[in-house]
Amino acid sequence: MKLKYGFGLLSTFIMLALVLTIGCTHDYPVPAPPIPPYEKADIGLGGIMYDQYWSTEAAFDQTDPNLSMYNENSDFLRCKSCHGWDGLGTEGSYNNRAPQITRPNVSSLNIYELAQTKTADELFEAMTKTEGRRNLSYNFSTYDPITNATEGDKMPDYTEILTDAQIWNIVKFMKEGMFDVNELYVARYNGVYPTGTSSFQSLGKDGDAANGNSYYAANCASCHGIDGLDISLAGKGIGGFARNKPYELQHKTKYGALGVTPPMVGDYDITIDEMKDLLKALSSSTNFPTDIPDSGPVFFATDVEPIFYTAEKCSYCHNPSGVKPSLNLTQGNSYASISSNGFVDLALPASSIIYSKPQGTHAQNYTAIESGIILRWIQDGAKND
Ligand code: HEC
Ligand code: HEC
Ligand code: HEC
Repeated sequence: MKLKYGFGLLSTFIMLALVLTIGCTHDYPVPAPPIPPYEKADIGLGGIMYDQYWSTEAAFDQTDPNLSMYNENSDFLRCKSCHGWDGLGTEGSYNNRAPQITRPNVSSLNIYELAQTKTADELFEAMTKTEGRRNLSYNFSTYDPITNATEGDKMPDYTEILTDAQIWNIVKFMKEGMFDVNELYVARYNGVYPTGTSSFQSLGKDGDAANGNSYYAANCASCHGIDGLDISLAGKGIGGFARNKPYELQHKTKYGALGVTPPMVGDYDITIDEMKDLLKALSSSTNFPTDIPDSGPVFFATDVEPIFYTAEKCSYCHNPSGVKPSLNLTQGNSYASISSNGFVDLALPASSIIYSKPQGTHAQNYTAIESGIILRWIQDGAKND
């Protein structure tokens, strides 16, 4: 019995081998084994999506009919709004980011740690869970942090919004593309959400400042300037930003700043050591001063108006026969037109329409430097000088 069985098995093998050999005389293409979705996933796109999944930088379909809804309710949809740039939620740098009618509560979860402990498959499953998640049809205008927060605070049901491949990109970012901020700086968190406070010391920890200076010179100085003061980041230089918000700088250095002019692309390959070196360099307020010094008065005729008419940047459409004639931004006429339209708000300079309109969402937008000039002109009294 045993022998017969053994022989039967052997002959089966011989037959099979024969069939296979004969089969192989035909030239069938051998299909490559499928690449698992996690391996195919793109960390760079994932990190960008964590900031704003519907951005052009994230290669999101810009004809999506929900695009304006996403823009109007962005804080309810961006991962970083609920989980923080550091992934630490209410236990990290967002311990003071209280909800408002336009933004939800921060999540208490530490998704950095969660991503390190779960497998990629488990993380994908967590991301594609539908129960306990907020429907895309939710009406955001009903959100009230005091009386009606439950639904708005929920994580969106991303299966309604993103493809599997896009979710895999985010999963890969969470598992391999997030920095452990504890290695980048010493954070002191006090109090409890939403009235906590945070401060950041020892930027870059044991990083090498000389290497960081070289990294900065090669990758950042062309736009931000040698001392980080060429682009105003809400009035601060890059050093001021780094020392105040290292948790945000680490993400934007790696994944870029979205929707800015000129485009700031991230360095997806930056290592944790390079990041530490960079932060170490930026911790020096001698090399990277905090505030942008007021570089003297701004004049309308020589500093502001040329922004509008040089190369017809704005006057191309904003002239008496252009597509938006009610605002005339041609040389010699723009001051009167801006005033008569009431586009300057001296009480709240940053709310002035002439300042706020062309900020990343208009047909033409100011560069960071032009923005700074317009704002200073308004802050100085918006004079026709
Ligand atoms: C409106 C706030 C909000 C937004 C936006 C949001 N989340 Fe969440 N997220 C939560 C809350 C609250 C929880 C905890 C409860 C839960 O699991 O739903 C959570 C849970 C998670 C979990 C753990 C899920 C589990 O079941 O273990 C992960 C991972 C996660 N979020 C990642 C993300 C990513 C990535 C994005 C962006 C694509 C995102 N979240 C957007 C609020 C949000
Ligand atoms: C091609 C030009 C360019 C380069 C190179 C560049 N940036 Fe930027 N960066 C910008 C612009 C433009 C902004 C947006 C300014 C504004 O808010 O209008 C910006 C903003 C930032 C912000 C603030 C983001 C925010 O949303 O407020 C940080 C932080 C930053 N850059 C860090 C860096 C670092 C670090 C490097 C080098 C690794 C770097 N940048 C390289 C152009 C650049
Ligand atoms: C390609 C055409 C085009 C260009 C170029 C353009 N705009 Fe406009 N702009 C429009 C149109 C159309 C509107 C009206 C629709 C809207 O509000 O978006 C408008 C509206 C505005 C408004 C608000 C007007 C109102 O009545 O509410 C301001 C302010 C403005 N533009 C400023 C600028 C500035 C400053 C620039 C240059 C940096 C500029 N625009 C470049 C087409 C343009």
